[in-house]
Amino acid sequence: MHAADLGMGVLPSHQGVGLGRRLLDRAIEDMRSFDGIDRLELTVLATNTHARRMYERAGFVEEGVKRRSLRQPNGRYEDEVIMALWVGES
Ligand SMILES: CC(C)(COP(=O)(O)OP(=O)(O)OC[C@H]1O[C@@H](n2cnc3c(N)ncnc32)[C@H](O)[C@@H]1OP(=O)(O)O)[C@@H](O)C(=O)NCCC(=O)NCCS
Repeated sequence: MHAADLGMGVLPSHQGVGLGRRLLDRAIEDMRSFDGIDRLELTVLATNTHARRMYERAGFVEEGVKRRSLRQPNGRYEDEVIMALWVGES
């Protein structure tokens, strides 16, 4: 196994002040120095443009879309985007 799943969240009261980016940078840094993990993966709601942009700026690349993969409490289906970052040797 050489891939790890990444999931993250910041309390609404603390969003927008740079914590998310710092947490993400730290997770990437840790995984780069962690022997055996070469790839970080995540899924993010397609409508979550703020988070998608944050991941892209950190180097994550969109690899595909899971169409209508999440069913919301209101019955609506939403797409999820698969993103990944290579953290192993090039
Ligand atoms: C997505 C999330 C983790 C980001 O954490 P955060 O602490 O709010 O983000 P930051 O303050 O570090 O900002 C990250 C980037 O988004 C930008 N940003 C912050 N708040 C923003 C907003 N309301 N609208 C647009 N951009 C915003 C910042 O400018 C920053 O960009 P930069 O790196 O170019 O400076 C957080 O909003 C969250 O927990 N959301 C709910 C759960 C979620 O969506 N998790 C991710 C699912 S995969």
